[in-house]
Formats: sequence, C-alpha cells, structure tokens
Amino acid sequence: MHTQDNQQNTEIEKIREQFNYGPYPRVALEDSPKERYEGLYFHNLITAYYLRYGRVPETKGTMILDAGCGSGYSSLVLAEANPGAKIIGIDLSEKSVELAQQRLTYHGFDAEFYAIPLEEIGNLGLEFDYINCDEVLYLLPDPVAGLQAMRSVLKPQGLIRTNLHSSYQRAPYYRSQALFKLMGLMDDSPKEFEEEAVIETMNALRNTARLRVETWNGKFTPETPPEKVKEVLAMNHLFVGDRGFTIPELFGLLEEADLEFISMTNWRGWNVVDLFEDGDNLPALWSMGLAAASIADQLHIYELINPIHRLLDFYCGHPGEPAVSIDEWDDADWPTAIVHLHPQLRTEAMKQDLIRCIQQAQPFEISRNVPKPAMGKALLDPTRAACLLPLWEGKQTVAAIAQRYRQIRPIDPVTLEPVSEEQAFEIVKDLLNFLIQFLYILLERAA
Ligand SMILES: C[S@@+](CC[C@H](N)C(=O)[O-])C[C@H]1O[C@@H](n2cnc3c(N)ncnc32)[C@H](O)[C@@H]1O
Repeated sequence: MHTQDNQQNTEIEKIREQFNYGPYPRVALEDSPKERYEGLYFHNLITAYYLRYGRVPETKGTMILDAGCGSGYSSLVLAEANPGAKIIGIDLSEKSVELAQQRLTYHGFDAEFYAIPLEEIGNLGLEFDYINCDEVLYLLPDPVAGLQAMRSVLKPQGLIRTNLHSSYQRAPYYRSQALFKLMGLMDDSPKEFEEEAVIETMNALRNTARLRVETWNGKFTPETPPEKVKEVLAMNHLFVGDRGFTIPELFGLLEEADLEFISMTNWRGWNVVDLFEDGDNLPALWSMGLAAASIADQLHIYELINPIHRLLDFYCGHPGEPAVSIDEWDDADWPTAIVHLHPQLRTEAMKQDLIRCIQQAQPFEISRNVPKPAMGKALLDPTRAACLLPLWEGKQTVAAIAQRYRQIRPIDPVTLEPVSEEQAFEIVKDLLNFLIQFLYILLERAA
C-alpha cells in the first residue's frame, strides 16, 4: 500500500512538472473565445441544466469550478458563457495557475485560482453549481477519487462536465507512449531532449511504418510553429499519466463514485442510427436490439463501430429523478410551455441574418453558430424562421409563437383556406420538436 502511494506521488509530481514546463493550452493571453459559439454552448451551464432538469436557470450568482484549469483558457470560456457566475480554478501546476489568473484578469473577470490538487478541493470550503473538469480525469492515478472529490463539493442540484480519453480512438498514441517509455524517454518529465528524440525517430522511420502513418504523417507542415509541435508531442507521444477508457469503464467509474450519467456533451454525435446507410431501414438485429439497449450499451456500440471521438465527454450529477421528457408531455402542457432561444444563438449577428432571410425570402441557417454533426445545415423556411424572431428579445409561450405564425401566414397557399389555430399550432409544435433535438431552443413546461 505504502509503495503504491509512493508510486502515485511520483506520478503526480511528474505530471505537475510536465505542466509547469508546458502549461496547457498554449493559447495567447489576448485570444478571446467570444465568437467561438460551439465552445461557449457546451460550457454554458444552461445546456447541462436543461438536459438534466428541463429548466433554464439564471447563470448570475452561480459558483463554477474549473478543476484542472491549466493555463485558464477553459476558465475564460466558462466566464464568457456564464454571465455573472463566479469562476474558481484549481490546478496542480503553479505555473498554469499563474497564467490562468493573468488571463482572466486581462479579460476583465474577477476569478480566483489556487494551486492545489483536485483530490484536495474540499479544503477550499466552497460548493459549486457547475464543475468543469476538462482533459484531467484520465491523468489521475485514481479517477474515482477525483470524481468523489468533485461530488463532495457539488451542490445537490449541481452538475459536472468531465471527460476521459478513448482507448479505441487513441490506440496508436498509446502504442507510441509504450514505445517511448520502453526507450526511457518517459522516466522523468519529458523536455527538449525527449521531444527531439521523438521527432528524430518519427522522421527516420519508413513512411509506411504503421506508427508513423497513424500518429505522424500529415500532422505538421513546415509552417507549423515549433511551439505547436511541442504541444502535440507533450499531449500525445510523451503524455505522462495519460490513459484510455471505454464506455463500460466510464460507467463503472461513475457507479463507484456514486454519480449518475446524464448525457454526452456532444450527444448529437453519438447516435448509432446515424451510422447506418438507411436509418429508417435497419437490419432486424439492430431495429429491435437498439430499442432495447441501455444508454450505456448504445454508446458502447457507437464506439465499437465508429471510434472517432478522442474524448468520452459527458455530463453527470448526483443520482436523482430526470426531467419529464417532452415526449411524455400532455397536450395541455404545450400552449403554456415557455420557449427560450439557446443563449449562444441569441446574438445580434444571427438576428440580423434572420431579418435578412425573412426580407429576401431565403432559408435561414439556424445551425450556423452550433453545427449539427454529420447532418449538414439546419435550414428553416423564412415563414417558420420569422415566427422565432421575438425569441431574440426574450422568452415566449408556444401559444404566442403559433399566433404569430397565423399572423404571418393567415391563408394556406395551396387551398387558399384560412389557416386554423390548430393547424398553426401543429406546425409550430413540429418546428419546436425539431429544434429541441439540438437544443437550439429550450422548452420549459409551465410550473
Ligand atoms: C491537458 S491539461 C487541461 C487543462 C484545461 N482543463 C483545458 O482543457 O484547457 C491537464 C491539466 O490538469 C492538471 N492536473 C493533472 N492532475 C491534476 C490533479 N490531480 N489535480 C489538479 N490538476 C491536475 C495539469 O496540471 C494540467 O494543467
């Protein structure tokens, strides 16, 4: 036991040294994520809260922890995405914490950073509404201890966004790490000598050697800045402490830590049906099998067929009752339900684009800021899009949107009959059901 503790401490020291040598990510201090809407979208605690509780909370006054904040770029994204939230960041590496503090101060945010290990987060005596733990968990000698530490400072309704590296997607890099470990390059925290040795090895290998094909060829051009090359090496071939996980392992860790899986953060990119040529006509094994499969099994099936995601990136929280799904709403719930536009779509540029599309009778690309993966653009016809315009000013009821539809299109252009209240309502309901799949809008059942 004692030896195991010592080994873990040595491993943690190596990781600290690695990130003191090269804080991650190496992003310039002045770089702003203000217009990187996709990043803002899943760092916005509203996205996670809506998936869990079907509610749209205020971000003002919430407490957010960036656990393993690195050089603070993710802390900055959290601050931008959650107006009025208090951001606290912690990291093992003193150098990273220093940079993170400078970054948030530079961008005008009042955030606090501490150089402490995640496992000791309880010592701060704080509780959080939302914890972001990005690209950290797979480095911990005991990820369950990390999850438990986060759970211990999570408010009862609080949520965690975290991730693990995928064993399947990163298999070539784990071979590369094993190789360079064998050659003694990872005995200490890797620095210039080790970086040079990897570059020399890769360039000396035959172009067709599998390791070179899978981890090297085409990754860099002569213009790639040396700092970028170093970051790629540090985060892949020479990444001390890096481990891969599968979906069943992820669910096993959550169970041990007494946390409940909520959703993948990019759930739109984990749909097994999308992997089939004709999703409406699956082989019998799959049409029946998928319907009966648990969410854990469905995700595992996805990673076995198509391991394209480097991260198993997910939301989780304390065990509890999930929100009533929209599919289970009564008809009476719909007219009074409140429709919000997702905050990352509610930008002046997008509103002006919508007005232009309405005026020029052109389709409106609602997926512009937050794309739908592998499914092309989400285009709305100008009439339907026009119903949504008031959402840029604030929330609306479904009934108000349906009424607006009737004002815009009072007559059915085919039959020339007046559009009835019921017809308008059904059209708007279909539209909202489509948009909610991607959380472009958020629908709250009236209290
Ligand atoms: C790959 S970086 C990720 C940084 C940041 N979260 C991001 O995604 O931009 C991993 C960070 O986790 C930190 N870290 C590793 N083990 C840790 C631990 N036990 N406690 C706190 N931080 C840790 C490292 O120092 C490093 O800054």
